[in-house]
Amino acid sequence: MSDWLWWRDGVLYQIYPRSFMDSNGDGIGDLEGIRSRLDHLVWLGVDGLWLSPCFPSPMADFGYDVSDYCDIDPRFGTLADFDRLVADAHARGIRIILDWVPNHSSDQHAWFRESRLDRTNAHRDWYVWRPPGPDGALPNNWQSIFGGPAWEWDPASGEYYLHSFLKQQPELNWRSPGLVRAMHDVLRFWLDRGVDGFRIDVVHRIQKDPELRDNPLIEGRGDGYRGQRHIHDENHPDVHATLREIRRVLDEYPERMTVGEVSLMDPAEVGKYYGQDDELQLAFNFSLMRAEWSADSLAREVERFEAAVPESGWPDIVLSNHDISRHASRYGAARTRVAALLLLTLRGTPFLYYGEEIGMADVSIPPDRLQDPLAWTLHPKLSRDPERTPMQWEPAPGGGFTTATPWLPLADDAPSRNVAAQRGDPGSLLCFYRDLIQLRKRTPALHRGSYRRLPAPDGVLAYERSAPGSLARVALNLTDEAREPDLGAGRVRESLGTSFGRSVDRAGRLRLDPNEGLVLCLDPI
Ligand code: GLC
Ligand code: CA
Repeated sequence: MSDWLWWRDGVLYQIYPRSFMDSNGDGIGDLEGIRSRLDHLVWLGVDGLWLSPCFPSPMADFGYDVSDYCDIDPRFGTLADFDRLVADAHARGIRIILDWVPNHSSDQHAWFRESRLDRTNAHRDWYVWRPPGPDGALPNNWQSIFGGPAWEWDPASGEYYLHSFLKQQPELNWRSPGLVRAMHDVLRFWLDRGVDGFRIDVVHRIQKDPELRDNPLIEGRGDGYRGQRHIHDENHPDVHATLREIRRVLDEYPERMTVGEVSLMDPAEVGKYYGQDDELQLAFNFSLMRAEWSADSLAREVERFEAAVPESGWPDIVLSNHDISRHASRYGAARTRVAALLLLTLRGTPFLYYGEEIGMADVSIPPDRLQDPLAWTLHPKLSRDPERTPMQWEPAPGGGFTTATPWLPLADDAPSRNVAAQRGDPGSLLCFYRDLIQLRKRTPALHRGSYRRLPAPDGVLAYERSAPGSLARVALNLTDEAREPDLGAGRVRESLGTSFGRSVDRAGRLRLDPNEGLVLCLDPI
């Protein structure tokens, strides 16, 4: 494993810092809390942590509105706490990925406060300002993803500014050389502190049509965001040159990486963000989370993404994150094991979302405790709070997360579903995740091998992973009835399945119960 590369061959884990571990009893997770729980992550076997934003922020969008790119919000700790976290993580072989938000800052960022002072300010063009049209009309028809027009009137300077999200999140202007230099320096600031990579927030929007032309409308879809074809406000071809420059900054340091949130529906467009190994190292593959839970639809999405990622690139697999209902809720509790098997045996870097390893599900939040701004701007039902509740550590008050009232309520099942309870039970979901991660690590076919779908009965997803000297076959019964796939010839060296204790010594025809899956590591042919 001499050419082992952490972000390609390893397993990555997303932490939502507000919800992982509170060290100082204010009900909000923090960096010291994360540091105190590194032991769990080492035991689980993850290779890198992506921390959702922990920079100073007025928290209009819980940290995705950054008011200083080069510091830590006091709610999460200090720069010294951050340095300690990086040092302790590195000492345990765990890398740290920060969440860089280049599309917009907070309206409280010093850059924006200067920019809005007057039209001739040196920071004016770091944001996207436009004069009103006749009779004060908006500059164009663009809409905010979080509701309403994408333009906010600034009476003091007499122009509108652009925002794709909240009006507290003004859009940065990546056509301004000064802004580009400043943001490159932000990357260097963290790289110099030993950060290993960045998740790049909404990277597909950082370049827009320079003429800011109207988006065409879609008949019958209303006059909001969903009623437009987004051909001018996102995915402008100039984004690729911008990314090549960002990549050159990363390449000033060894083994650093970026993973981009490219929220576009067409995998072929997402694949372009890899460039010729000179843009992103990974672009999130959101297609599995959007797909129907069936063998054919999952296989179709796997193959479409495989086809989209260039030869020099590497795919990734994501089932949950902080913006979407947890998959234990979307697919149902009965499917969490087979989903784990899928996530950890497909070709591509797996991203776990904190808590999925113990089967955490969405928590319904009483109206008076809703936090996510989406609940206010769009609809309470669209709130992302249910998937952001505190990590369930122990059967204690506060779930072992906090000694205070947590910022979002803990799940009702926290006293029984928690890390402590599952660590002591070799048949638990948590131990299954750990066993799978270890198996993936010691099996080159699983972490580096090729992917080929195998013929299987209706509703069973079966595939082969193969690398020089290493072979694995996987069968996942995604139906609610028993199935009998045939996994071909071969002597089994190791097997791991969703049914605890089941072991298999020959491939061939196997009976799988509903939602049962197996991975077999075979003698190479
Ligand atoms: C990304 C983040 C999301 C945030 C939005 C605006 O989509 O994942 O949480 O609200 O960007 O920054
Ligand atoms: Ca705290």
